[in-house]
Amino acid sequence: MNDIICRTWLPYLDADIPVDLITPADVAVFELELGCDRLGGAIPELRPDPAMGESYHIFTENGKPVISGGRTGILYGAYAYMESLAAGEAIPAGVQQPFYKLRMLDCWDNADGSVERGYSGRSLWFEGGGFQWDPRRIRQLGRILASAGINVLCVNNVNVHPEAEGLIEDAGLPGLAAFAEALRPFGVRLMVSVSFAQPMRHGIPTADPLDAAAQKWWADRADAVWKAVPDLAGFLVKADSEHNPGPFTYGRSHAEGANMLARAIAPHGGVLIWRAFVYNCMQDWRDTVTDRPMAAFNTYAPLDGRFDDNVILQVKHGPFDFQVREPVSPTLLAMPHTKLALELQLAQEYTGQQVDLYAMNPMWRALGEDLPPEQVMAVAAVSNLGRDDNFTGHPFAAVNLYGYGQYAWNPRVDPAAVLRRWARLTYALPRGQEDALVGMLLDSRTVYEKYTAPLGLCWMVNPGGHYGPSPWGYEFSLWGTYNRADRNAVGIDRTAGGTGYVLQYPEALRRKYESPDTCPDKLLLFFHRVRYDHVMADGRTLIQRIYDDHFEGVEAAEAMAAALAGLDLPEPDRSEAARRMEAQLKNAREWRDVVNTFFHRLSGAADEKGRRIYD
Ligand code: GCU
Repeated sequence: MNDIICRTWLPYLDADIPVDLITPADVAVFELELGCDRLGGAIPELRPDPAMGESYHIFTENGKPVISGGRTGILYGAYAYMESLAAGEAIPAGVQQPFYKLRMLDCWDNADGSVERGYSGRSLWFEGGGFQWDPRRIRQLGRILASAGINVLCVNNVNVHPEAEGLIEDAGLPGLAAFAEALRPFGVRLMVSVSFAQPMRHGIPTADPLDAAAQKWWADRADAVWKAVPDLAGFLVKADSEHNPGPFTYGRSHAEGANMLARAIAPHGGVLIWRAFVYNCMQDWRDTVTDRPMAAFNTYAPLDGRFDDNVILQVKHGPFDFQVREPVSPTLLAMPHTKLALELQLAQEYTGQQVDLYAMNPMWRALGEDLPPEQVMAVAAVSNLGRDDNFTGHPFAAVNLYGYGQYAWNPRVDPAAVLRRWARLTYALPRGQEDALVGMLLDSRTVYEKYTAPLGLCWMVNPGGHYGPSPWGYEFSLWGTYNRADRNAVGIDRTAGGTGYVLQYPEALRRKYESPDTCPDKLLLFFHRVRYDHVMADGRTLIQRIYDDHFEGVEAAEAMAAALAGLDLPEPDRSEAARRMEAQLKNAREWRDVVNTFFHRLSGAADEKGRRIYD
């Protein structure tokens, strides 16, 4: 087999790992021997302590390093020890434990091997309608996940196509069991996305959650599934969302739907992840009353407290859909009696598709200003992994997987420190170059944001593919995604006098967002309809700010390209990153010119600085 080029934060991942390691402690022993040999550290003694679960403690006894930890904790400790050695950082002091118990990666992999919104190649574990994988790569995947601290992998797309329904049917269970076994030594449990209407494939006339036959079908299925995979983490469901079936068909609530499934899997200790991505995707653009960001709150807030104990409602971080900048989803702040999971997206669907640079930790950290980490009890992120040699398409996109793991372990972690540690572990560049790389990553979101849709407006992407500009691409569509730009103004009034969206927030946030004077400028066009001649806090008009941002965004991307060229990256990363940067520059210039021309044509306003805007 050819060597797989996978340069990650684990400097020794290129060395294969034996097949006969059964427990995380076995893996820890192997990894420490390999890693400490390469990194030049003493091999610690491992002291398993089952009571510690996922926690670990690294300390020195009689001058020798010791790692104590629970079943998976001991492996997490081993990785932490080696990362500290490799990064030249102090070993974390005291007992370390994850902030979130459930740290999930949601994979939108289809059984045919394609990946919805995947930008890193085909699926690592599906092909031809079911499981099929290269054991070596899956062991590498296991190490990647364990070293990032991710403990649940949802293996298939939330949109469950017919082939994937087979995963939990009798013929599919041996494949699922084998895959679970492959990842078990790394402390990773599987989860499966299921279709709410699945009983109807098996002669049950209805999927009504209150129907006894449908309930029995799910209970029997759960028995069979957990018999095959006793440590399966649970099921995940996208119901009544973007044409997926759900309880609304039967006039039932989402609590009734979720609880029915939750009761089927409860005897096996399974959790039911129920996604809150519910909105009308058949809206008429002439309808100015329906406001898509309000949909999840309207559906779920009234159900607070009505979900069973093993249901977790998974809510996207913003009320739309992983746009570059959205306010926190009000649903996450409205359900104190419901278990909530925060859903993030590592796959860069709207954020540059792993061509443009976009490091996410700064964005997640900022989210914490409005969403206290305690507000949710789990985190999930849409995976950016695929079969590409480097797993993530862009060699730097791995920073988002690593960073997600760090965030899930400690949501208050300093983003700059995370980006620096990743850069150091992955490339070990001279200090000046490391600073340049970290600076580039830290600024990457701001740069991307400046040259794409302005000030929280969202959705100016090419429809369908979601890469590149199309200011009116979604304007007359069914998706509830409008900017309503005309010759005087742009944006939707979401205040009390407009759609009323702002009223879904608790008092403090409502006050912050309801006036254009207190609303953060980067969210101005999310909450307000604003005239182009509106004077912003810094004295510029809105239209001038739009022009300035777009010119500055491209200039900053050009500066990033120059900085990138100065990094002594190893091959193939150097060529790959350079190739993608060239595409990013092209994309940035296209965005700048399309957006500036769009607003120039509508408003007729000249650029005060006389720069080139095409007519
Ligand atoms: C977005 C994305 C879809 C995905 C959906 C979801 O709309 O474009 O591909 O299925 O989100 O999160 O369910």
